[in-house]
Amino acid sequence: TWSMAGYRAAKVADIRAQVGDGKVICGLSGGVDSAVAAVLIHEAIGDQLTCVFVDHGLMRTGEAEQVVGLFREHYHIPLVHVDAEELFLAGLAGVSDPEAKRKFIGKTFIDVFEAEAKKLGGAKFLAQGTLYPDVIESVSYTGGPSVTIKSHHNVGGLPERMDMALVEPLRELFKDEVRVLGRELGLPEAFVGRHPFPGPGLAIRIPGEVTKEACDTLRKADSIYLDEIRKAGLYDAIWQAFAVLLPVRTVGVMGDGRTYDKVCALRAVTSIDGMTADIYPFDAAFLSAVATRIVNEVPGINRVVYDYTSKPPGTIEWE
Ligand code: XMP
Repeated sequence: TWSMAGYRAAKVADIRAQVGDGKVICGLSGGVDSAVAAVLIHEAIGDQLTCVFVDHGLMRTGEAEQVVGLFREHYHIPLVHVDAEELFLAGLAGVSDPEAKRKFIGKTFIDVFEAEAKKLGGAKFLAQGTLYPDVIESVSYTGGPSVTIKSHHNVGGLPERMDMALVEPLRELFKDEVRVLGRELGLPEAFVGRHPFPGPGLAIRIPGEVTKEACDTLRKADSIYLDEIRKAGLYDAIWQAFAVLLPVRTVGVMGDGRTYDKVCALRAVTSIDGMTADIYPFDAAFLSAVATRIVNEVPGINRVVYDYTSKPPGTIEWE
């Protein structure tokens, strides 16, 4: 009978057979998939693995610190942390088309990653946390294989360019199975249970131009929203919840004064694998408490709306 312990042992053997005594580099995104892949590969080949975390500055509050802490302190896995926030924000200046953002972030990520890999020297293998839905996403809900809905920045490109062989131990798994494997490998529950986070990060949750100021504003609103979701005990019932900072300003009133600030949209969905999704039906009282906190506590936001769109026809992310 199939078990995750059996899968773990089989993959450890596969990885050893594939890489022999070669060096492997693994890009960490901050998400569960790449973290689970890295820990599994480390179990198989120890310090033949080096992880590279390209920090594009488009992470949520505290996320980069968590990743670095988990890998360096908890697992003692060799990790290179590249702070590339300025490079990414400079390149995103003036860019507002969603695909242009995705392509710039994907390309820059690869450039930075490649430069780091060269510095490390001589790795023949590249590890990725590719899941089964990543492999089939473009055919799964568009109705046809020829339509690209979104360019995912974590699939493809890199291996050919760097002449590296891929190590993808999660390729047969769905997200819920990756979580089971993560627990099996002893990853902390708070990390394993985390909502998925897209490779392009907050850039695709800020329609229009991405600036440092917008990222900081969004981080504040997003952490209030998630904080309230956790306090209400709803975090694990939701596949993904996040705030989106809209480029639209609206008029409001606070105290005696007029405000003219941005709109924040809240999204929360349930899903099995991200390919289809339903909205999470919060109580009105919950949403109104979150809206009040965000407007009171986050300068630059004076209105909060809730996204009621399922997938399809909406996608989970706004871009
Ligand atoms: P959409 O927006 O296409 O998202 O409904 C489906 C799931 O994929 C995540 N997502 C990404 N993950 N790189 C990733 O690693 C990406 O470029 C990317 N774009 C979307 C999204 O957060 C959701 O879980």
